[in-house]
Amino acid sequence: AAVKRYQFDIVVRNVSRLCHAKPIVTVNGRFPGPTIYAREGDRVIINVTNHGQVNMSIHWHGLKQFRSGWADGPAYITQCPIMPGLSYVYDFNVTGQRGTLWWHAHIFWLRATVYGAFVIMPKQGDVYPFLQPDQEANIVLGEWWNADVEAVEMQGKQLGLPPNMSDAHTINGKPGPLFPCSEKHTYAMEVERGKTYLLRIVNAALNDELFFAIAGHSMTVVEIDAVYCKPFSTDAILIAPGQTTNVLIRADRTPGRYFMAARPFMDAPITVDNKTAAAILQYRGVPTTVLPSLPSLPAPNDSAFATGYNDKLRSLNSPRFPARVPLAVDRRLFYTIGLGVNLCATCVNGTRLAASLNNITFVMPKVGLLQAHYFNMKGVFRTDFPDRPPKPFNYTGAPLTANLGTSLGTRLSRLAFNSTVELVLQDTNLITVESHPFHLHGFNFFVVGRGVGNFDPAKDTAKFNLVDPPERNTVGVPTGGWATIRFRADNPGVWFMHCHLELHTTWGLKMAFVVENGSGPEQSILPPPKDLPTC
Ligand code: C2O
Repeated sequence: AAVKRYQFDIVVRNVSRLCHAKPIVTVNGRFPGPTIYAREGDRVIINVTNHGQVNMSIHWHGLKQFRSGWADGPAYITQCPIMPGLSYVYDFNVTGQRGTLWWHAHIFWLRATVYGAFVIMPKQGDVYPFLQPDQEANIVLGEWWNADVEAVEMQGKQLGLPPNMSDAHTINGKPGPLFPCSEKHTYAMEVERGKTYLLRIVNAALNDELFFAIAGHSMTVVEIDAVYCKPFSTDAILIAPGQTTNVLIRADRTPGRYFMAARPFMDAPITVDNKTAAAILQYRGVPTTVLPSLPSLPAPNDSAFATGYNDKLRSLNSPRFPARVPLAVDRRLFYTIGLGVNLCATCVNGTRLAASLNNITFVMPKVGLLQAHYFNMKGVFRTDFPDRPPKPFNYTGAPLTANLGTSLGTRLSRLAFNSTVELVLQDTNLITVESHPFHLHGFNFFVVGRGVGNFDPAKDTAKFNLVDPPERNTVGVPTGGWATIRFRADNPGVWFMHCHLELHTTWGLKMAFVVENGSGPEQSILPPPKDLPTC
């Protein structure tokens, strides 16, 4: 195994998109930021120096951080932010993982511009358990706001209003030619006829699940969230914020120029923003004057496609890459996901929207929860997060418009080391139903079941897939439905869990687990690094 070192300088740069120039926060002046390359088993050391004006913190999304929670990155959860002028070294091992993950700022809405791919190659000499591609490319999907993103975030926070939607979706930071002034901001990938390509697709958008397709070319899905899956072919993929998907494509069409495109999936009864990002698959030698053809993407509200697509996702579950699904469950949790309101003196209507789990809107602490846990600081958090909602109701029935007040708290749930956990995430119709990509830090989990309506233990448990369910770090809880995940709590530390729609996280759709140390060797949190930021 090798040691891979990176220097991340946080600097503000002027970037122009959609006929607007504005200063944005970047890593090393690049947008999107640099790709990190490592191999399974490597140690990765990234020195982040904040030359900007605002606090910073970076999360390595999907990296398990076994015992190294200090390097996980969510601000006020595993560390205090890196203040302007200061540095922090993220130092961790990439153990037992290979595939596509990504990294992003984990403070305010800074991940709008501070993000990049994290590519973990198999160990030297290992091959992919599928057709070896001739070449690889990263396709990182994102969102662009013409407005200052911090101001957009504040609309939601201080005024209590739903903030502006983004003005464009992007592919590798570029919206593509369907937007004004964007001819030159179009990503193009050159391919050679007859060759096979591995696309590493990341959804780094803040608030939109996306469909992605390539005109004339089907894709073979081979990996999701850095876990190999049973290959299947599809004309479009669905990818939620936080998720990654590797696909193989073969450049076997009439040499030409073909659009790749991404646009939102949105089946909730809310405004659809339909801003299609486009990039070009360019066959070598074809003149750039040839007009590309658009792929057909599923309709924005095509829930049937979404369900069918998700049902095809299965772990590879081969002798080399077995799916280690916990068959016995030590701890059963049931969390409702809902919207509601809280009183707010500074807000336009005197209230603001609040999102909650089991009716609790998470309040961010003033110091890092991991420090508070490690050093036994009192009064920072409680560990009485309820295992189920206060009282059951018809979760997905008619919209509930009464009793929407949520309670506030920094409440965590404590898990015994190595215990197996089953968690049902149940969407509710408080104000409205909506889909929620849920991300758990520190672990992969198995998605043993998903469905629409209310989770019914008697009926739905019997249908769980305990053989080859998809293993991932972010699951889309369907609109007006539920998803059940299982994982083994074998990583001691404090681990954030939240909706990866940034808007919902801002409204409090988050909580954290405290996983106790085990009693054996190498079963406890490593000591904190000397340069750990202070608040
Ligand atoms: Cu990619 Cu806590 O997030």
